[in-house]
Amino acid sequence: MLAWYDANARVLPWRAPPGANAADPYRVWLSEVMLQQTTVAAVAPRFAAWIARWPDVESLAAADDADVMAAWAGLGYYARARNLLACARAVVARGGFPDDEAGLRALPGIGDYTAAAVAAIAFGRRAVAIDANVQRVVARLFALADKGAVPAHADAITPDTRAGDFAQAMMDLGSAICTPRAPKCLLCPLRDDCRGFASGTPEAFPARAEKKARPTRHGTIFWLRRGGEVLLVRRPPRGLLGGMRALPTGPWSEVPPGLADAPAAAAWRWLEADVVHVFTHFRLECRLAAATIAAQEEVVDGEWWPIADLESAGLPSLFVHAAEAFGRERCE
Ligand code: ADE
Repeated sequence: MLAWYDANARVLPWRAPPGANAADPYRVWLSEVMLQQTTVAAVAPRFAAWIARWPDVESLAAADDADVMAAWAGLGYYARARNLLACARAVVARGGFPDDEAGLRALPGIGDYTAAAVAAIAFGRRAVAIDANVQRVVARLFALADKGAVPAHADAITPDTRAGDFAQAMMDLGSAICTPRAPKCLLCPLRDDCRGFASGTPEAFPARAEKKARPTRHGTIFWLRRGGEVLLVRRPPRGLLGGMRALPTGPWSEVPPGLADAPAAAAWRWLEADVVHVFTHFRLECRLAAATIAAQEEVVDGEWWPIADLESAGLPSLFVHAAEAFGRERCE
């Protein structure tokens, strides 16, 4: 695997080249958090912009919460951004990143995977980082139907040196060759040892968990305009999209909630289009309601934001899509 990595490692902005001295722990940690649930292609440009703005853990720790939440907009799973900031502040308070797995795991928002990945990649420690790609490679290599057996097998093949390169080699192999569907076994450096390949059905490993049906919930998104501005609110710190700037909504509910939670008494108009967004645990269908009020009218808490500058508000994708729909229906 290490020889394969030396020849085939992807060049990624947070990586040190194969065999080189360990990479900067701040960049490794940041990239690993961004890469949880978000693809390499989506992360790469965002990572570069982030590093330009907050080049080290000290500058991030000193940042305003609102700026960090806005900079995370579009990456999803916003608890990651809240934890990122809490972690940066904890790191600065203790005088730098801990350099082993146990110390890293004690930081806010760092779980088993991230602790192992940072310990191995940034500090050269022997640690076993198992993400979805690594899990699939190991399950196929040993023909393990049960994912529960993966950690012990992954541990058994992790070398004592270059554990960080090994982990990233497994990630790259899983992403480029040992793909979920139609793995490219003829190109794989592990083929001769792979029991999944020998079985003739490598795709069968690991056994796929039965997909749970996703429930649907409903909501209303409000576009309240006053002159060239629209009303934005900040969502409560906990819960879905917590801490993010947003268009006003009511609570999500089992049935379409209507206008009950509108931010002002006004002549609301329903749009034809709905906005649908799929979260991990449910599918959200939102109806869109628009109204315009006169300059002097009072509304619930919020901030008036220039519509022409909505891009800089740092809205989560759900609200970007809603704003586009309002724009298309000439609510601007
Ligand atoms: N996915 C998560 N971490 C990664 C890394 N360090 N390299 C490639 N893919 C990854």
